[in-house]
Amino acid sequence: MLAYRHAFHAGNHADVLKHLVLVQVLRHMALKDKPYRFVDTHAGAGGYSLEGRYAQKKAEFAQGIARLWERDDLPPALAELVALVRQFNPEGRLAQYPGSPALAHLLRRPGDQLRLFELHPTDHRILNAYLGQQKGVEVRFADGFEGLKGQLPPPSRRGVVLLDPSYETNGDYARVVAALRDALQRFADGVYLVWYPQVAKVEAAELPRRLEALAGKRWLHARLTVGRPDAKGFGLAGSGMFVINPPHTLHERLAPCLPYLSALLGQVDGASHRLEQKSA
Ligand SMILES: C[S@@+](CC[C@H](N)C(=O)[O-])C[C@H]1O[C@@H](n2cnc3c(N)ncnc32)[C@H](O)[C@@H]1O
Repeated sequence: MLAYRHAFHAGNHADVLKHLVLVQVLRHMALKDKPYRFVDTHAGAGGYSLEGRYAQKKAEFAQGIARLWERDDLPPALAELVALVRQFNPEGRLAQYPGSPALAHLLRRPGDQLRLFELHPTDHRILNAYLGQQKGVEVRFADGFEGLKGQLPPPSRRGVVLLDPSYETNGDYARVVAALRDALQRFADGVYLVWYPQVAKVEAAELPRRLEALAGKRWLHARLTVGRPDAKGFGLAGSGMFVINPPHTLHERLAPCLPYLSALLGQVDGASHRLEQKSA
């Protein structure tokens, strides 16, 4: 039984980094008329109330999206994310946060396809009620690592895959690598986005190097460290996004955002960021 519920963490610093990158990638995909398929292997509930008891428990969003909400000096790519969050909050106050399925839904054109996998029964039910009836959207109560195999290559040969597990078990690190290896064999030209946590675990520390080795010639790695683990080594110090086959404009779009985020969201003196890429 899965214990992780994203509702506790919605809109935190890790979501801001993840969704900043995702939005830039999907906007780039929309520059060409040909439709794309977006596969979210770990989709969550789709969107989250920030006023409900889950989000309020630790109010992680207060140190994430809430800090960006009223800013008038956002770098353009962050302004685009906040504009979408505003679209998700038609009443004007920050009451809800869009998950990756909601952001993809806001950005999709009529021919684009969404394939959303979620294994938690409650989150699957919420996601299915929200997007399951939309044309071009399929919501599956299935293992996203396994389900990915049947989604590649997309019919249009244009595709974006987000791998965003909860890393509840150490096995997720190895499964991300195995799923990507398989996916790249099926569809080498896809854009693959992997989110990973900065936690005190060997598997987490090693993951970026393993992804680099797998990615080969074209990748981008964005990392935001806002805190440090507690005395027992628990806690999310930050997170990273690793992108295989990134759009050529992604580095330039993210460059002003990372120092901005580390200054705005940093919870300790040593808050930092990193942005690196390899291009063929
Ligand atoms: C970090 S959350 C996803 C957040 C979402 N991608 C977003 O950005 O809004 C991870 C989700 O994966 C689900 N999950 C865990 N293992 C899974 C698996 N093998 N296949 C599909 N979903 C899984 C969890 O129930 C959880 O809702």
